[in-house]
Amino acid sequence: MINKNLIFLLPILVLLLNQVHVNAVDYVPRNIDIEHLSKNILVGSYIGGRSHLKPMLDVATILIERGHNVTLLTSGKYEPSSEYPGLKQITLGPIVTFKNNKRMNIHKDIDYRGLLQLMELTTAVYKINYEKFKHAAKENNIDLFICDALANEPCIDVANNLNKPVVGFTTYMQIMDPKPYKSDPLMGCNISLENESLFERFRCTLIQPLQIAYVFGPFARRLSDIRDQMNIKSVSGKEPKVSLALIDTFFGFELPQSSAPNVQEIGPVLSEGYPPLTPELSDFINGHKRVLYVAFGTRFYTTIENNNKILQSFVEAINNKIIDGVVWALVETSKDNFSPTLGLTDGTQVQTLPILNNEHPHIHITKFAPQFAVLNHTNTKLFFSHGGAGSTHESLYTGTPMLVLPFGGDQMGNAQKLKKSAGIALLLNKHALDVNDILSKIDFLLNDEHIKKNSKRMKYLARINSNRKYKAADLIEYMLYSSGLDEYLDDDFLKEWIPAESRMGFIKANNLDVYGVLLIIIFTLIGIAFKLIKYITNSSSDGKKSKQE
Ligand SMILES: *[C@@H]1O[C@H](CO)[C@@H](O)[C@H](O)[C@H]1NC(C)=O
Ligand SMILES: *[C@@H]1O[C@H](CO)[C@@H](O)[C@H](O)[C@H]1NC(C)=O
Ligand SMILES: *[C@@H]1O[C@H](CO)[C@@H](O)[C@H](O)[C@H]1NC(C)=O
Ligand SMILES: *[C@@H]1O[C@H](CO)[C@@H](O)[C@H](O)[C@H]1NC(C)=O
Repeated sequence: MINKNLIFLLPILVLLLNQVHVNAVDYVPRNIDIEHLSKNILVGSYIGGRSHLKPMLDVATILIERGHNVTLLTSGKYEPSSEYPGLKQITLGPIVTFKNNKRMNIHKDIDYRGLLQLMELTTAVYKINYEKFKHAAKENNIDLFICDALANEPCIDVANNLNKPVVGFTTYMQIMDPKPYKSDPLMGCNISLENESLFERFRCTLIQPLQIAYVFGPFARRLSDIRDQMNIKSVSGKEPKVSLALIDTFFGFELPQSSAPNVQEIGPVLSEGYPPLTPELSDFINGHKRVLYVAFGTRFYTTIENNNKILQSFVEAINNKIIDGVVWALVETSKDNFSPTLGLTDGTQVQTLPILNNEHPHIHITKFAPQFAVLNHTNTKLFFSHGGAGSTHESLYTGTPMLVLPFGGDQMGNAQKLKKSAGIALLLNKHALDVNDILSKIDFLLNDEHIKKNSKRMKYLARINSNRKYKAADLIEYMLYSSGLDEYLDDDFLKEWIPAESRMGFIKANNLDVYGVLLIIIFTLIGIAFKLIKYITNSSSDGKKSKQE
């Protein structure tokens, strides 16, 4: 019955729809063209290396595709620059390494004191690097600078002194936009002060920053002396000291916070493509269902004792059927950073050399691995990592839970964020590694429902946010466009995204003077009230006295 009725109604419906169609206004396309004036851009990083350069170059690639010329200025030669066709490269001198420097002990905690050495290094080469940046800028007629924000003062100073717009690039939000309720293990505090005691907040807000200022003071003074000698004006008072700060991070991983329009979260920045698995790795991972992938980045390694414990955990995890395969990209760890034999918990002895030579059927040791492709494989269930920003982003993007062994720098903070904010990780302590602890954590990470749910959630978030590198390129082009008018040197340049508080100073911006006045008024009133009460009680007691008399 119903069907019949519907069939009867159909011609009327079609007629109605046609009517609507006929009546619809014919739309004309919105013009979405943007003017792209070709400009010259310099990308600069003193530290260099994949973790610092890759995200900047992934944004630069978009700019090259849009017709701009990009020159990279960094220490050493960035080999994978072949991935970035059209990129011109100039070297700042030999590659910066901490390894050859005996004073940098990678096995100690690398907190802000560890950064001292970096500060020493950058201060020593400030003058040379300043000249190199300046020369490159003049030679290539640079219109805009993109500067790595860490240990890279010459880049930012040259840009500011040539009156060119400068973009600061970092993965570390606290450098660019510090918030009073946030801190970092690098400063000896937790990432969030939300639930800390008043004493702890006092320590993290006042004592630690003072201590850090004291430790860094001599270098800051030496740097300002050098600047004075060279007659370089440093931008002071303005935070951030750049026209635009791009932060390669994203909410969900980073603790949420509000930021000014000239501080933009644009991460996770990832490449369009990654190298595929080698046939050997592909066979290994396809042949195992629950693979653990291990890598500590391109700069980090740990003690022989820790390496032994880690390898022992893998052998036992496989024996206990927690996982069925391990891929370990050794990179900076060499094969003689292990003892010849390992004693397992059940008393058996295992030779390490055969394992390291890939004679164990379920452990695959390699010097390098195409990390993204390994994490991207459905059989890779867990990433045992140092917690560097790049690795972290790749793991979140592929929805892979993490077991994090932080060594220093931003890694401790990343590890805390992965555990507390993203909820996809557990942490290990490099000073107190324990085989049973590692085993139970691997087991938990593979089976917990919250970890699974959060991994899926973060995968979604990382994917939608990975498009923001195009926004980064758009904003850089906007700066080029608005500065292309030559009169950008005026105070009005980029006024539209610089909040008033950066000009008002701390006291005015927070209305502290207003509250000060309020306090004075309150105290004055209280004072008057007291005097009045005193006067009244006095006069009434005087009255009583006189009555008694
Ligand atoms: C970019 O480089 C090309 C080739 O070297 C050059 O012809 C062009 O003028 C450059 N663009 C600008 C804005 O200088
Ligand atoms: C950070 O928080 C943890 C608990 O979440 C606490 O055990 C620790 O003492 C806090 N402080 C520091 C400096 O890590
Ligand atoms: C602090 O505690 C509150 C209430 O227990 C909780 O909702 C919040 O997530 C905690 N914050 C952090 C950073 O742990
Ligand atoms: C990642 O996995 C998807 C399918 O899940 C595949 O299409 C893509 O090629 C993989 N990418 C890499 C770099 O392995």
